Amino acid sequence: MVERELIYSCTLEGIAVQLFDAMGIARDDKGRRTDWVMRGFRQFDAPVSLVLTYDKYLEPAAISQFDLGALAHAIVLAAWERGLVCVINGQGIMQSSVVREHACIPDDQNIMICIAMGYPDEDFVANSVKSVREDSKNFVTYVGFDEQVP
Ligand SMILES: Cc1cc2nc3c(=O)[nH]c(=O)nc-3n(C[C@H](O)[C@H](O)[C@H](O)COP(=O)(O)O)c2cc1C
Repeated sequence: MVERELIYSCTLEGIAVQLFDAMGIARDDKGRRTDWVMRGFRQFDAPVSLVLTYDKYLEPAAISQFDLGALAHAIVLAAWERGLVCVINGQGIMQSSVVREHACIPDDQNIMICIAMGYPDEDFVANSVKSVREDSKNFVTYVGFDEQVP
């Protein structure tokens, strides 16, 4: 595994460890681990699931995909402002044929991402987890500033 892949997978694994610790799910507790994975497919049991798509006609669609990222970000912030919370959820579209059928998405649309949305359940322990972030100085490059950020 190259160094970069290792960094990304460690970050993901770190978040999973934080979540499982908070939920009291042991490493060898296959049942509860599977249950957690299944929640992702079920959109975390949220009452609303938004599915963002773009027209296949737009392929190659890097800009459309970029736009949908911005749209997803805006939706999450607007929802937050109204007391709603979201999970941008890549796992939720892994079974894309199921999503396509249930959300009545026409074949001329490519499914990009989905967003689970609902009111927060403050008593659900996983919601208290604050994910550990990589320090920005490890991946941001500043050029042209007098004082270089170390
Ligand atoms: C493109 C994208 C895909 C994501 N897919 C998933 C996912 O499949 N499952 C998941 O638990 N979180 C996923 N997330 C992360 C959550 O949306 C959210 O960031 C996470 O629950 C942690 O919240 P935090 O970023 O405030 O720590 C994804 C985020 C992005 C931007």
